[in-house]
Amino acid sequence: MSNLILIIDFGSQYTHLIERNLRELRIDTKVIPSYLPISEILSYNPKGIILSGGPNSVYGVDAPTIDKTLLYGDIPILGICYGMQLITHLLGGEVERGEKREYGPSMLFIDREDPLFSGVSSPQRVWMSHSDLVTRLPEGFISLAHTKETPFAAIKHRDRPIYGVQFHPEVSHTPCGKDLLDNFVHLIAKCESNITIEDFLDRKIKEIREQVGKDTVIGALSGGVDSTVAASIVHRAIGKNLKLVFVDTGLMRIGDREKITYLKDVLGLNIDIIDAEKDFLDVLKGVIDPEEKRKIIGHKFIEIFEDFAKRHKDARWLLQGTIYPDVVESAKVDTSNPQLIKSHHNVGGLPPDMHLNLLEPIRELFKDEVRDVGKALEMPDDILMAHPFPGPGLAIRILGEVSRDKLDILRKVDKIYIEELKEHGEYDRIWQAFSVLLPLRSVGVVGDERAYKFVVALRAVVSRDGMTADWARIPYDLLEEISLRITNEVKEVGRVVYDITPKPPGTIEWE
Ligand code: XMP
Repeated sequence: MSNLILIIDFGSQYTHLIERNLRELRIDTKVIPSYLPISEILSYNPKGIILSGGPNSVYGVDAPTIDKTLLYGDIPILGICYGMQLITHLLGGEVERGEKREYGPSMLFIDREDPLFSGVSSPQRVWMSHSDLVTRLPEGFISLAHTKETPFAAIKHRDRPIYGVQFHPEVSHTPCGKDLLDNFVHLIAKCESNITIEDFLDRKIKEIREQVGKDTVIGALSGGVDSTVAASIVHRAIGKNLKLVFVDTGLMRIGDREKITYLKDVLGLNIDIIDAEKDFLDVLKGVIDPEEKRKIIGHKFIEIFEDFAKRHKDARWLLQGTIYPDVVESAKVDTSNPQLIKSHHNVGGLPPDMHLNLLEPIRELFKDEVRDVGKALEMPDDILMAHPFPGPGLAIRILGEVSRDKLDILRKVDKIYIEELKEHGEYDRIWQAFSVLLPLRSVGVVGDERAYKFVVALRAVVSRDGMTADWARIPYDLLEEISLRITNEVKEVGRVVYDITPKPPGTIEWE
């Protein structure tokens, strides 16, 4: 008997969050498109089915749908938002086209006891995002809960295990949402939690072997968590047919290159290391504008990558360490949009005219899950717990013109800062910490003499995903120790400041 929950995707931006919630509950899950024939759906022998939300109206011309015989069977079904409207529509209830959108938090009042709400008290804050609304239930259905604006906020069939909720249990703005999904899969669909991260890994490796066969895969490695875990998975799957390149831009920190050597020598990854410090410093000479820096670095990077690719003409795949938040971000970011905040350059960005298939083994994962997979691959904490590091590297942490001397100063400062954070157990609770070299000098005294030296800013933020962030409350005593060490050990620096700007309005990086 399978232990699988199928998620039928109607195009909601939140479908992956349903999947993530179920993965966290250690439930075996598969997302399938809504157009699959019912025979194929049943061939999975699912324990339960979740119908996702979606942007359509059930009355729309091309509105996606399902074979309604599914709703007469005994497989437990939970329709979310559009999913609930579709159930209602297919079974003869009424869905009204909404004039305006209901978007945001709402209070849910639970009107009836039901396994779906087991352990959940009333009222509850839930997240709404819909225009259409169920206004009459199909025959045999009863209402379980309402909100002020939504009379049927949760419904079920009297005799069959068919449920619907108008709100979104899968988003974190619905605090009880995880419990509802837990109740659905465990109490209603009677699923067992037996999936481990190793199962995920085994499945991925098998999938990659089937997909790629004996083809060559190329990719750029940055040494960051995502690209390294992605590369290690593919390496497990196809070994030496994965050819990687690490471009040492000279804009790296102390220790970055050593990580690559570890991956190459200890884990056996096939990596070409390219020394390109001079190339990058040459093209950055005289450049002050942050956007220009990013563009120049991005172009140079692609140039070098293309050279590498030319040496592997037989390659048919390009590996990328895209993770789920990147997918969401890039869906939102329109590069033709003049309001673009910063042009992001990711190591391994796909050159537009390269005819390669994309291989993205960790595309559906969140950062913490990527780290779990890395652990299962027995990768060291040093790599897995590392803070994110931007593609343009230290170039965007040196305000103004970049030079080798300034890079060396910043590297020394950053090493001290990070060392201290690690030693005092602060590093792992911080999303990202780094130092910024400012394009100005300030007066001080050293012994009896007047000094005139660089100012560095220390930045540390806490965040869930980098999209919003708050400055980290590092203990004053530790800040003092860091500041003292920096001014004592880095002779070019005379003053240290700490950045207390959240994002928004600031960004995490300074450029
Ligand atoms: P901001 O500064 O936009 O940064 O608040 C959000 C997150 O993105 C990282 N970042 C980059 N990552 N290429 C990258 O790969 C880039 O060009 C880039 N710019 C910013 C930043 O370090 C933070 O984690």
